[in-house]
Amino acid sequence: MGKITVGVLFGGQSSEHKVSLKSAHTIITNLDREKYEPILIGIAEDGKWKLYDGPLEAIPQDTWEQSDCTPIVLLPDPSQHGLLKTVGGMSEKIHLDVVFPVLHGKNGEDGKIQSLLELAGIPYVGCGVLSSAMCMDKDVSHRVVKEAGIRVPESIALTGAISEEQLAKGMTGFNYPVFVKPVSGGSSYGVTKVEEESKLMAAIREAQKYDMKIGIEEGIDGCEVGCSILGHGDDLTVGEVDQIVVTNGYFHIHQDMFKKTGLENASIHVPAQLPQVVQEKIKDTAKAIFRALCCTGIARVDLFLTPDNEVVFNEVNTMPGFTSYSRYPRMMEAAGISVTEITDHAIQLALENAN
Ligand SMILES: Nc1ncnc2c1ncn2[C@@H]1O[C@H](COP(=O)(O)OP(=O)(O)O)[C@@H](O)[C@H]1O
Ligand SMILES: [Mg+2]
Repeated sequence: MGKITVGVLFGGQSSEHKVSLKSAHTIITNLDREKYEPILIGIAEDGKWKLYDGPLEAIPQDTWEQSDCTPIVLLPDPSQHGLLKTVGGMSEKIHLDVVFPVLHGKNGEDGKIQSLLELAGIPYVGCGVLSSAMCMDKDVSHRVVKEAGIRVPESIALTGAISEEQLAKGMTGFNYPVFVKPVSGGSSYGVTKVEEESKLMAAIREAQKYDMKIGIEEGIDGCEVGCSILGHGDDLTVGEVDQIVVTNGYFHIHQDMFKKTGLENASIHVPAQLPQVVQEKIKDTAKAIFRALCCTGIARVDLFLTPDNEVVFNEVNTMPGFTSYSRYPRMMEAAGISVTEITDHAIQLALENAN
């Protein structure tokens, strides 16, 4: 039997474009080449699709667009099942068995690319359209998770031009600090911890650079913990729980400034330095959230743990980072699961679910 062709999508029209380049490099270099043949598809920041055939190091270095690229389109007709490349008036079809959309944030993790692949009839790794869209919107995902009986931070969501009056009314009953964030953000872009009312409007303006829908949440006291989940339905594998210890401010991965660790003000313990019973509670809550939000394949569930060990939902990343300092692969590795095994399992699930 021939190898399974895996279209690896990277880059994308998103503020997390560069993070995706690094994640994709990890996925591509860890794919089991005995079984899978990667077809590299870069999406430029302006949205152009390019078939990439150059050195792999140029992807994380963000120089891949300088050479070895051919314009490409995805065919929406499901009977075609792939891409169309046109060079010098000659067209060539490239069949894709499955797609791995290694895209973070807007246009990649929010259900749009998933919809396109559904139309094209091509199986893809990770969460589906509904799940991706729900998880991308922190307001919607919080409502769904709350409905499942899990605590979420008190919050309000505001859209459009936000007036002082509207804000004052919405903030009744909130204590400071609060967190102001773009509802569909990622990698901490546009998130501000606000300690006093006078700083609120500036934080909203900052968040509005990323999204027109703004969330204001009660600040949860405690530490941050996470779970990496792989699987579907009742068959879920959970990595070791991790724990973020923030030394000042709040957790903020600066991909560009801190190249090696991505961390400025925090350290991450994997496994978490927490009693076993608390770790089990965290894992069970994360699995319940994964199911409530209809996730499948891969997702990282981020939570807060209060000083009295209450688990509070923060967010789900449906295509978590796979950079050298990313949490998802580190948590899995601590549980003895390699990136090669993660990709293999996730691709097989995508193929099974499509049948
Ligand atoms: N309600 C909250 N209470 C306490 N800390 C928060 C809250 N919301 C966000 N934070 C802090 O801000 C960081 C980024 O916020 P998050 O909602 O996870 O955005 P992103 O999707 O950009 O990662 C979190 O990791 C956490 O440190
Ligand atoms: Mg986060």
